[in-house]
Amino acid sequence: MKKVIIIGATSGIGRELAKLFVQSGCIVGATGRRPELLDTLKEEFPGKIFTACFDVMGNENIQHIQSLIDQLGGMDIFIYNSGYGDTSQTLDWKTDQQTTLTNVNGFVETVNFAFNYFSKQGHGQIAGISSIASIRGNSWAPAYSASKAYMSNYMEGLHMKAAKMKLDISITDIQPGFVKTKMAKGNGQFWVAPVAKASKQIFTAIQNKRRRAYITKRWWLIAKLMKGVPYWIYKRIG
Ligand SMILES: NC(=O)c1ccc[n+]([C@@H]2O[C@H](COP(=O)([O-])OP(=O)(O)OC[C@H]3O[C@@H](n4cnc5c(N)ncnc54)[C@H](OP(=O)(O)O)[C@@H]3O)[C@@H](O)[C@H]2O)c1
Repeated sequence: MKKVIIIGATSGIGRELAKLFVQSGCIVGATGRRPELLDTLKEEFPGKIFTACFDVMGNENIQHIQSLIDQLGGMDIFIYNSGYGDTSQTLDWKTDQQTTLTNVNGFVETVNFAFNYFSKQGHGQIAGISSIASIRGNSWAPAYSASKAYMSNYMEGLHMKAAKMKLDISITDIQPGFVKTKMAKGNGQFWVAPVAKASKQIFTAIQNKRRRAYITKRWWLIAKLMKGVPYWIYKRIG
């Protein structure tokens, strides 16, 4: 029975992933800041879901993860899903700070811990929910796209590091387009995927130990376009 820890599993993609992993026979450690949502998740799957309520912007991330590992009796898969983002049209510091603390600081501290844990254990899997926004800069939410670029870049580095060190640790960089949750903000949204569909594709990508997955799959086309378009054109839309 695999033991899966999901950071940010109170709502949206993370909550759905928790259910999918439990339904596939795993036990899950779920985290988030909203205790009532963690409680309802636990009640839905008695004995299959363990919880830890904490803010990834705090100073006790590793202690909380360690206590979840103890409750689960180990860890095989670590998923960093917690995320924050908002438009920062007047370049609001509070928005940029919360984005960076959640998507960069919380991510790197916990993924660094998970990689070293799996390195000692001899095997493991890490997945991070980045974004298609990681591909280019964005004038509306510069900290968000930059933070997601950090995540994707870091995971690419870990993927190479695991291979060079001959470690049995798989790293999966998940890059969703729009998914119908409260995180999907702003006008001009298209190809908005239902949470269930996006989460199923993420679950399959993690199971298949994919290096990178665009969610839903057709977002690979937008990724390709975003990467290829010259800056003088991109700056009109980005
Ligand atoms: N929806 C989209 O269109 C979209 C597109 C690309 C990427 N993503 C990424 O997908 C991930 C999941 O987002 P979602 O769309 O499912 O939105 P969501 O329902 O708002 O989920 C966000 C999750 O992150 C947790 N979280 C946020 N800030 C946290 C903090 N400071 N400490 C601990 N946990 C925190 C939330 O838990 P609490 O609030 O309970 O703490 C919640 O469980 C995010 O990383 C997001 O950037 C989403």
